[in-house]
Amino acid sequence: MLKGKTIVLGVCGGIAAYKAVELLRLYKKAGADLHVIMTAAAQKFVTPLTFQTLSGNPVHTELFDLFQGHEIGHISLADRADLLVVAPATANLIGKVANGIADDLLSTTIMATRAPVIFAPAMNTNMLENPVYCSNQARLETFGYRFIEPSTGDLACGWQGKGKLPDPAQLFSNSLTSLYPADLSNETFLITAGPTREEIDPVRYLSNYSSGKMGYAIARAAAERGAKVVLISGPTALDPPRGVETLYVVSAQQMNGAVLERAHEATVVIKAAAVADYRPLIRADGKVKKEGQETWSLELEKNPDILATLGQMGLKALLVGFAAETDDLIGNARKKLEKKNVDLIVANDVSRVDAGFEADTNAVRLLFRDGSEEELPLLPKSAVANILLDRIKTLCDA
Ligand code: PMT
Repeated sequence: MLKGKTIVLGVCGGIAAYKAVELLRLYKKAGADLHVIMTAAAQKFVTPLTFQTLSGNPVHTELFDLFQGHEIGHISLADRADLLVVAPATANLIGKVANGIADDLLSTTIMATRAPVIFAPAMNTNMLENPVYCSNQARLETFGYRFIEPSTGDLACGWQGKGKLPDPAQLFSNSLTSLYPADLSNETFLITAGPTREEIDPVRYLSNYSSGKMGYAIARAAAERGAKVVLISGPTALDPPRGVETLYVVSAQQMNGAVLERAHEATVVIKAAAVADYRPLIRADGKVKKEGQETWSLELEKNPDILATLGQMGLKALLVGFAAETDDLIGNARKKLEKKNVDLIVANDVSRVDAGFEADTNAVRLLFRDGSEEELPLLPKSAVANILLDRIKTLCDA
């Protein structure tokens, strides 16, 4: 998804510098051409050799190094960058840029680039709340520099509070939005995510392992790319994505009702939810007691197949389903594409631990109605979401 994109990763001196290594790997995996600039302090935490080995490019540390014979180092990097990300960004670096000081390779490149610049600050809570720091950040924001909010937790200095560098996967997905234009602003997405729960009695239910991460990643990415997004979510532990209308349901029947109510507004429907195929025929009003029962047989009845219903409705919307499979991934997914009458199905091998349910990454194969297929490598769910949206955009524009 980042093939042809040049990303300059600036690394400042802070204990979180080790996380920049993982961030670099995510960009590389997504196909970006990566160039790392390290400040002098950053090199006290991680060696340039680590970044050089993983990026496949020389690491830049010196302002006055000549670059490729005739090119001036910071200007060349500044010109070539499609995106410049500073992670971790220290109060010192942010203060320098906010006040026009360009005295090393990183601050000079930031000043010289026309590419979007994103700072991911990481520092002690008191530094983060210091009015001098706050006004420097605010000043840079008024000029269009973007900031990724630090997360809260145990800090290396022993404090508890805000100031941690977010997880590399979060930095990766958050930073991608600066590379993508608002290309979906004409679309309205209806997306489902998470599991459904089918109650047996007031204390028990049938469900599955869906965490909602895949569907939420798609909803977040679509909203970041300018789409209007309605997310219908089963029970999850996730925060609602910013800029997304999120509606909560519990059972498959509730999800069915909510989807059918909102489907007519959508230009694209994506069903990433893991809907329970069956529900108990009888839901007991009181807690079922175990006394005198060595075994317990539950009679189940079929839930509505929401996607199949949508496929029969002759909606104008582009219809995208997921297929969670453990055997014959492609054969079963292709059958679902035809049976449910969808435009695109995302075949998901859920027998892998690093893909499908609960994982932060996913490995899927896209099966199109015209018989073509595309296999995606193992990627963060945010990257899978953006590639899926790219393909959907192509189908919508066709
Ligand atoms: O939530 P995560 O932990 O991130 O995990 C992601 C995921 C594995 C749940 C997701 O990637 C995925 O594969 N979702 C589809 C799961 C599923 O229910 O697959 P299925 O093969 O049983 O269903 C096929 C399609 O029909 C799906 O789009 C499903 O939403 C839909 N369906 C299924 C049953 C039903 N009664 N109604 C439906 O609409």
